[in-house]
Amino acid sequence: MSTPTMDKVEAESAASPYITATFRIRRFNPEIAAEAVWEDFTIEIDPKERVLDALHKIKWDVDGTLTFRRSCAHGICGSDAMRINGRNRLACKTLIKDLSPEKPISVEPIKGLTVLKDLVVDMDPFFQAYRDVMPFLITSGNEPTRERLQSAADRERFDDTTKCILCAACTSSCPVFWNDGQYFGPAAIVNAHRFIFDSRDEAGEQRLEILNDRDGVWRCRTTFNCTDACPRGIEVTKAIQEVKRALITRRF
Ligand code: SF4
Ligand code: FES
Repeated sequence: MSTPTMDKVEAESAASPYITATFRIRRFNPEIAAEAVWEDFTIEIDPKERVLDALHKIKWDVDGTLTFRRSCAHGICGSDAMRINGRNRLACKTLIKDLSPEKPISVEPIKGLTVLKDLVVDMDPFFQAYRDVMPFLITSGNEPTRERLQSAADRERFDDTTKCILCAACTSSCPVFWNDGQYFGPAAIVNAHRFIFDSRDEAGEQRLEILNDRDGVWRCRTTFNCTDACPRGIEVTKAIQEVKRALITRRF
């Protein structure tokens, strides 16, 4: 017959939320080796936690050299986009229990941008494309003395594309971008859309001409990878199609 103490231990063990999960992480340190390698980390973790929690646990308890970006941990800053089980996702929005954790979970940097270390990529080309489409309101004339009014219907025209958090999940899931990093990429087009279709803005024509370039919107092959990858649920491909249509009709 088991003792009361043993019963308690068994009950606690039965109620434990923890599982053993293996994270197969793509590691790269240019100071150590020229090639990236996969490294497995097996940890005890609650499957209701997120991949970001697992990365923290590994970094803090197992290997402090593991390098990745994160800031808000709540799907707002866009800094922890990575390829998890072969799909672009935000580590802070991906629950371990949704990844079949009985098998190793792969974690690697997003594709198409130079890897600097482990899961950290060089975001400069991504942000340069963003800057190139002039992602800010451009108007002429004197500053108004009151707010610039806009109807609810006019605001609705670009509501979806205001949600972008610049995580690069879309651009780095695009096969055209993988093959030619000169392509503006979905995220830059999404942010151009946000101003082209804003009734208060006066530089829509300029932005359209920028995207009419050989590395612009016509490179899109409508594969929908971008829409599938967007953690904000933005209809990225639809936005790109609307920009293409505006270029043809010059109506926006
Ligand atoms: S459109 Fe979506 S996937 Fe692309 S950068 Fe913005 S939030 Fe990220
Ligand atoms: S850490 Fe900010 S979006 Fe994930």
